[in-house]
Amino acid sequence: MRLRRTQKVGQMKQKVFVTRNIPGHGIELLKKHFVVKVAPQNGPITRPNLLKGAKWADAVLSLLTDKIDADFLSQNKHLKIVANYAVGYDNIDLKSATLCHIPITNTPGVLTESVAEHAVALMMALGKRVVEADSFLRAGKYKAWNPSLLLGTEFDGKTCGVIGTGRIGALFVKFAKALNMHIVYTDVNRVPELEKEYGAKFTTLDSLLKQSDFVSVHVPLLPSTRHLINAKTLKLMKKTAFLINTSRGPVVDEKALYQALKRKQIAGAGLDVFEFEPKPVAGLTKLSTVVLTPHIASATVEARNEMSILAAQNIIAALNGKTPPSLVNKDLVK
Ligand code: GLV
Ligand code: GLV
Repeated sequence: MRLRRTQKVGQMKQKVFVTRNIPGHGIELLKKHFVVKVAPQNGPITRPNLLKGAKWADAVLSLLTDKIDADFLSQNKHLKIVANYAVGYDNIDLKSATLCHIPITNTPGVLTESVAEHAVALMMALGKRVVEADSFLRAGKYKAWNPSLLLGTEFDGKTCGVIGTGRIGALFVKFAKALNMHIVYTDVNRVPELEKEYGAKFTTLDSLLKQSDFVSVHVPLLPSTRHLINAKTLKLMKKTAFLINTSRGPVVDEKALYQALKRKQIAGAGLDVFEFEPKPVAGLTKLSTVVLTPHIASATVEARNEMSILAAQNIIAALNGKTPPSLVNKDLVK
């Protein structure tokens, strides 16, 4: 009798489907409140399994590799939330989600440090030729100290162009300022605090590209930012300039970037994201002037833990009929 009753209570618990195992304490937190199923595969989930899991669940915790498109959403109107484990949510058709009355959440704020630091790491690696130097040494090529070996570039006094000054871009500005760089930025909005605190100068994209020694991209992927960096805009950059992208791959026309790098039209690039992820465009990995990382800018123990907790908090709120703390489609609560 007792057992049956417990089972019944158990059956009433709401269900959360997590599309792949994630690090951090978020899943434990969810398990305190709900029945939680974590998809067992060791890689992005297949479409049929994604649909099957969503059908079973009241809430889905999705990853940036999951396509939450109109088809998925219209088949799963029963979902009380799709909580994306990322700050970017270009994998989700937001308009369809709103039409289907499904709240969408992301994980802003908790990965700002991690991503801005990674952009600095790429900038440092480029300026100091860290990766090239490491390969040189490992290949046994270091025979004697050489005054002309692997000359890099200083940051002090150089111009840093920041495209997109939300949380991440703004923190990157602060870091670049600490290196004594001049800051120029462009965004849809002016940010007076950056101008006051760091002497950052607001300018157009074209003027930023013309004057910067390092250009770092921090915009979300939107129709208006797709291929923001393309053959035409790359031509504006200095021959000695470097491009850093930790935002989303398709913001840069990667084939055009490859051509520019190959022709030495710009000095180098540091990329954490790729237009056709997971594959960099053909030839890119052969260039010594690029530093490539596999979409790990938010991959710190700290950020990934906080991301999982925030995603869990969003789900807990939604399944309790409350507004999730990082609701993206805010029209739903108007
Ligand atoms: C990672 O790319 C994110 O958007 O959180
Ligand atoms: C994301 O956190 C941003 O606003 O830069």
